[in-house]
Amino acid sequence: MGMTKCVLSLVILSCYVHVIISFCMFELPKDHNPKNCTYKDSVVALGDSLEDFERCIKIGCSANGAMHICGIGINAGVFQPPPGCRVIKGDKCAPKLVDANDNSIECHPKVDE
Ligand SMILES: *[C@@H]1O[C@H](CO)[C@@H](O)[C@H](O)[C@H]1NC(C)=O
Repeated sequence: MGMTKCVLSLVILSCYVHVIISFCMFELPKDHNPKNCTYKDSVVALGDSLEDFERCIKIGCSANGAMHICGIGINAGVFQPPPGCRVIKGDKCAPKLVDANDNSIECHPKVDE
């Protein structure tokens, strides 16, 4: 029963972290003597990093096999599109503003910068 409670709080914690800071997460080495980092189907050498433009994440692998996975581009932060616009994934995960009703039309809002 204690176990169930622990698992449950872990799930809640990871959901919480995911919602609040969706930019980076950290994972400890899976092995005692890791030779690489693996995330889903990506293998990253120790001390190396890899940008995954499919999932819009950057996977960093420390020398000790710990991993940090950070969002890049549209996953790097929260983008609040102006009214009538929508944010979609552009080239190499760059945020792209398009018309809220038509992805093929670029959105050019009036912005005061
Ligand atoms: C990654 O490391 C594991 C052991 O930690 C090993 O079994 C696997 O073959 C390695 N993969 C690559 C592609 O080097």
